[in-house]
This record gives sequence, C-alpha cells and structure tokens, in this order.
Amino acid sequence: MCGIVGYVGYREAFPILISGLHRLEYRGYDSAGVALVSDDGRLNVQKCRGKVADLENFTVSKDVSGHIGIAHTRWATHGEPNDVNAHPHYSESGNIALIHNGIIENYGVLKDALIENGYTFKSGTDTEVLVQLIEYVKTTNNCSLFEAVQSALKQVVGAYAIAVVEKGNCDEIIAARKSSPMVIGVGEGEYFLASDATPIVEYTDRVVYVNDGEIAVINRNKPLKIVNLDNIESRVDIKKLELSISQLEKGGYPHFMLKEIHEQPKTIVDCIRGRVAADGSNVVLSGVMANCERFLQAKRIVFVGCGTSWHAALIGEHLIEDLCRIPVEVEYASEFRYRNPVIGPDDVVIAVSQSGETADTLAAVELAKKNGAFIFGICNVVGSSIARATDSGAYIHVGPEIGVASTKAFTGQVTVMAMVALTLARAKGTIGEEHFREIANGLLHLPALIEQAVELDAQIRDFSKMFTYARNFIYLGRGYNYPAALEGALKLKEISYIHAEGYPAAEMKHGPIALIDSEMPVVAIATRDSIYEKTVSNIQEIKARGGRIIAIVEQGDTVVRNIADYCIEVPTAPECLMPLVVSVPLQLLAYYIAVNKGRDVDQPRNLAKSVTVE
Ligand code: F6R
Repeated sequence: MCGIVGYVGYREAFPILISGLHRLEYRGYDSAGVALVSDDGRLNVQKCRGKVADLENFTVSKDVSGHIGIAHTRWATHGEPNDVNAHPHYSESGNIALIHNGIIENYGVLKDALIENGYTFKSGTDTEVLVQLIEYVKTTNNCSLFEAVQSALKQVVGAYAIAVVEKGNCDEIIAARKSSPMVIGVGEGEYFLASDATPIVEYTDRVVYVNDGEIAVINRNKPLKIVNLDNIESRVDIKKLELSISQLEKGGYPHFMLKEIHEQPKTIVDCIRGRVAADGSNVVLSGVMANCERFLQAKRIVFVGCGTSWHAALIGEHLIEDLCRIPVEVEYASEFRYRNPVIGPDDVVIAVSQSGETADTLAAVELAKKNGAFIFGICNVVGSSIARATDSGAYIHVGPEIGVASTKAFTGQVTVMAMVALTLARAKGTIGEEHFREIANGLLHLPALIEQAVELDAQIRDFSKMFTYARNFIYLGRGYNYPAALEGALKLKEISYIHAEGYPAAEMKHGPIALIDSEMPVVAIATRDSIYEKTVSNIQEIKARGGRIIAIVEQGDTVVRNIADYCIEVPTAPECLMPLVVSVPLQLLAYYIAVNKGRDVDQPRNLAKSVTVE
C-alpha cells in the first residue's frame, strides 16, 4: 500500500505533491512526508505521523519552496506509524531522499552489511535500508544517482515503487518499480509521478505505465528515459488517460462511500454498455468471445481474489456452474499462491481485483501463468498490474472507487461475471433461449432496480440508529445470496468495527445458533428464490431463540414480514442477479451504522484501499 507522488518541472512542487497525496490517501494514512530540492540545491525533508492534513499543519510557516519533490502517504508494514518511520527516508550523509511503496524482503541482510560498513539507522523501516544502500553504492563506485539506484536494486529482493532525489540536483528524479504500481504523467517541460493516475489527471492526460523491473530517469530538461536493471532501454509508450477530475470528487456527498453506493445505477449502465443488446437477445464480451474455445475446453475455472473480490467470485462460481455446467473453484489468492496448487494448461484462472494491484492476486496470476493456465482478468483500474498480466479480460468500468470499503466495484464485478456466464452458456449450449433472455433483460433492468434499492437510503438511515450500540451481528443467506451475506458482514466490520459474521443460513444449527439471544441482530436475506421456504424455516429457528431479525425481502413479501422484527423490501430480479440488488441495502446499513458511531467511513482504521503488500 502507501501512496507515492513526485513532480519535477517549472511549478512550485509542494502544492502539487500535497494535492496528490490527498488523492492517494485511500492507500494509507498513518503518516506522510515530502522531500523537496530547492533551486539552490538544498534537500528539505518534512514528515510527521498522521494524515496528509497533519503534514500540511506541520509545514505551515516552513520553507517548502522548490520545483522538484517527492511525497508519500504511508500504510505501515515495518515499523510503527510515527514521525521517524514516516517517508521520505534519507541517507547517512543526508544527501539522498527516497520514498517507497512495497516491502524490501531481504532488508535484514542488507542492513547488517551496511552496519558493518559504518552506517547507522534511525528508523525501524525496510525503506531506510534501501536509501542507505543507494548511497553506499554511489560513494564506493563514485557513480551517478541513476547508476547507484540501478546497481542497488539488483541486490534487493521484494516489491517496490520508489522515487529518489538528491541534494544539488534540482532537475532529476530517479524512479523504479517492481510489483508495486507507478504511473508517470508527461507534461510540457514537466513530469508527474504517482502510484496511480489520480494525482496526475488535472495536469495532463498523457501517461506512461512503468513496467516491472524498469527504472525511469525523469529529468525536466530531457525526454523521459526508461531502462531495465540490465540497462536495456525501453520504448516510452505514452497512453491517453481516460479519467476526469469530477470522478475523483465527492460531488456533494459527505463520504466517497455514500457517493459510490448512490452511483451504482449509473455504474451498472457503464458496465453493461455495448455488451448487452438492447432487446436482451445477445451479450458480447469481446475478451471472452475471442478466447471462447479456451474457456470451453477448460476442465475447470478457478477464481482468485481477496476480500470483496473473493465474495464476488463466489457469486461467479454459482453463475458459471449454474448456467455453463463448467466446474468452478474459488480461491483466496493469498492461500492459492503458497499452497502448491494443482493448476495447469487445462485450467482457466479468473483473477478478480478492483485495484488490479493486490499483491496476493497478482502473485496468484503469475503462478497460474507459469503453470500454463489461461488467465482472464476482471479489474476496474485500466492499465493496472493485474490487468496487464492477464491473457485477456473484461474491465468493470465503474470509475474510480475511492472509499476504502468496496461497493460499486462489487456490483460491477458480479455484473461482469453474469455476462461472462451468459456468453459461455450460449456458446456451450447449456442455456435455453428463454432463460438467456430473462437474465439478459434482467441485466438491462438492473440499473432501475438498483435505483429503487438506493432509494431505501432514508429508511435505512432512520432504522440504522437502533443498531449503533450493537456489539455483534450475524448475516444469513443461502444460494446466490450467501456471498451477499458475507459481503454485508464485511462491510459492517470494516467501517463500523462491529464484529459481524456471514453464514449460510442452514449452517446456523450446526453450532453458531448458540450465539443467538435477544441482543443479537440477525440480518437475513430471504428473497423468493428456489430455496425461499428453506430460508424461511431457518429464520423461524432464529426467531424461536429470541434473535432480532432484520430481513431483506422482495417487495410484497408477507410471510417473512410476519416473522421478522424489521423488513427491508427490494425489487425483484432474476434469481442469479438478486445478490446485486440485496447488496445495496446492506451497504447502506453498514454505512449509516458507521456514521452513527462517528467512524471515519472512507478511511477506516488499519485499512488501505490497495493492498500491494502480502
Ligand atoms: C473490502 C475491500 C477489500 C478488497 C480487497 C481486494 O471492502 O475493499 O476486501 O476487496 O482488498 O482488493 P482488490 O479488489 O483491489 O484486489
């Protein structure tokens, strides 16, 4: 995690760096810092514990002039969040400053060697080792900063996106990446650098995505130069950025999360645009069509992902098994990558990731690729590492998701999975025409149904007040709605810090039902699907033990209404699309409970949006 920003050009660097850090604060927010080189060559490092706003307060009335600088917002891995561990870190002599997103895995060995050579360390971070190593290489070899970075990185094991500046050089930033993201913005006489394009978009739409193992020499007086660790120069491939500033702002909402929940009718339109025929007769997902044989010949499909993306994948499993009759497994990427999985050329691996940068998912993709599997990506961030590492894929096109708790990305992922399943089912002949059209038309109606679910906002806001002081929650669902229950519970715990568990409703009687008493709110998803009656019986079992039931039901349901303490009514969609509809009130419930508790909804404690460390 962590966010990095850099600027070199003709403008004052500090305001650009600070506004860039604000944009990247979703990546980590426990400390922040900047390093500037003034026009007379002084290296000025300012850093402190806390958020970017704390750094702004800390630097009020300090000299922060200069036209070149690097800046960092941290999510701690090595070393607690404090002033000393904040980035930038600087070298023994104070001549070199560096920011880093990632983990230097062999920092212990490198540190011991540097200590033997007389270096001393102030922080508990892995990053300080790298800046010291660069200085050591530079002084022993009497070489340039670029050569020192190139040579030092050959000794490093781990993941990094780094930017380095040097006292006396107000023209040049050296940057490099391996397994952590980096984008360079190319302006007229100026360059920008960041973990993603959001700090860059207001200055230029010309960007270069730095590849793994590359080093960029960013000199304001020269064309951008990119080489690898072996000094082989790459072609600088400038891409046009498809991102607008309005997408990055709250648009009048108090939190990004609420804005993103409310955006879902529109983001689903963007997701299905040009993919589902207006009369529901066809679904065209080019990344699937172009590789249809590969999918159809696969012995099985394996989804990999983490967190919310893993929950979406569980729905993908239902969809593909149900509609395409292809065996599917769903794996936590973090487990898959380390457990010597049986995976090979007969498998298709679908990697699901909003950010496209999750380290475990990327590693799972690389492992599966090495074993010959065909890799399909379902990502949101265009040009992200996972999107680039896959053989083919489908973007979810829901726009930047900034709230740390994923909402619109989840519904976008499930929508794409439904389109994948329909495309494959038709190609394989496992779906009848009527059923195909029912689901395809369901996708076309989805924005309107989600809009009705979003309109529950005021009802849920009022009703959420009853649960501000609840200490635990249970979420129940079955079939397609079981992953929605898991996702509802995750939303609540991550932003309200209330303990919540998602369970398949019928599993309760195998143990967890012992937890039920009058203090336990139970959110039961009970839509009129093929196992509705069974779910109703499970709700009765909870009710009989005194649980407080909050039911999510379809409009007009009278059966559950008579059992539940509170009912939230959602519109009806085809069974396989119902988790999309029911997720919206669950997102709103989590949001309002967290707001009632005074939580920092967009930046919950201990979390970061993009988990680029394992
Ligand atoms: C929860 C959440 C996380 C992410 C997970 C994977 O609200 O956002 O659980 O889903 O960290 O992230 P991506 O999808 O970017 O790979």
